[in-house]
Amino acid sequence: MNLPEPTTDTLATPVGFAIGILGMSLYEWQEAILWDADKPGAIAVKAGNGSGKTTSIAAPLALWHAVAFPNFLTIITAGVYRQVKEQLFPALRRHARKFAGWTFNDTDITAPNGSRIIGFSTDEAGRFEGWHNTNLLVIVDEAKSVPDSIFEAIERCQPTRLIVMSSPGGCSGFFYEAFHSRRRFYRQHTVTSFQCPHIPASWIAEQIEKHGEHSPLVRSMIFAEFMATNEGNTAIPLTLLERCVANPPAFEPGAVRAFCDFAAGGDENVLAILKGNRVKIAAAWREKDTMSAVGHFIRLFR
Ligand SMILES: Nc1ncnc2c1ncn2[C@@H]1O[C@H](COP(=O)(O)OP(=O)(O)OP(=O)(O)O)[C@@H](O)[C@H]1O
Ligand SMILES: [Mg+2]
Repeated sequence: MNLPEPTTDTLATPVGFAIGILGMSLYEWQEAILWDADKPGAIAVKAGNGSGKTTSIAAPLALWHAVAFPNFLTIITAGVYRQVKEQLFPALRRHARKFAGWTFNDTDITAPNGSRIIGFSTDEAGRFEGWHNTNLLVIVDEAKSVPDSIFEAIERCQPTRLIVMSSPGGCSGFFYEAFHSRRRFYRQHTVTSFQCPHIPASWIAEQIEKHGEHSPLVRSMIFAEFMATNEGNTAIPLTLLERCVANPPAFEPGAVRAFCDFAAGGDENVLAILKGNRVKIAAAWREKDTMSAVGHFIRLFR
């Protein structure tokens, strides 16, 4: 990749800003995405877990936008509000001492030039309406857990720059389509764990050994590939499960039910208890002898 070196002329660009003003040291793929974000339009990034999406892409991009475009708006959202509050904004606040006169709150930032960075939770689709702004940057982190309705609301705002990033999930949903049926509307980037020197090679090797090179988890977490699940043959599609885990519904009390999964040999025997809409695994164990597994189930039932 032939990327220009940042100089004082390029401080106004996202890369020059990240290196020259924020003092960050970026990997080549991070520079490539930030250079790309200098141009208006939509970008989709699928990257392995812990690659640096939040700290090295979302944070410098939002701060750059606030500095470069006075009186304009940056909106940041993620699969879960907790992620906005506990990951995205702390990554931004880490640079607070470099920005005298700015107000850094829990989920919003105001610059003296009138720019604002606002964090949104994804259960507030309605609030995305009306953010029409002649120069709007929208950053969607952990995009695989963001419902399609939120993306539709974001697109209606016609952002000048849109960046959607995530470790890849299942083969459906808006984030997936940004790499497939709707790929012509996005500039794509893919980042594997091997491009991230802070991720130890020994950890990568261990995950591959533990889960298998072709397991959906390893394909997504390390190779940044969408998880090929046969969603048509599953009772609950993986993407729906991911969204539910990211945005769990409120607890509703109700009847108590038990569920047991008997295994013979390799797999785990499982006893799960459902109370209302919450299910908990009460016991899970491996047991070669099926009769002693039955005995254990009986003891647990009692
Ligand atoms: N250029 C870099 N040089 C060194 N370390 C980096 C670089 N970019 C990111 N990191 C480190 O990578 C780690 C993970 O960063 P971050 O949380 O931003 O990743 P992420 O892709 O958002 O992870 P997740 O998949 O959990 O959301 C952090 O400890 C961060 O400091
Ligand atoms: Mg992150």
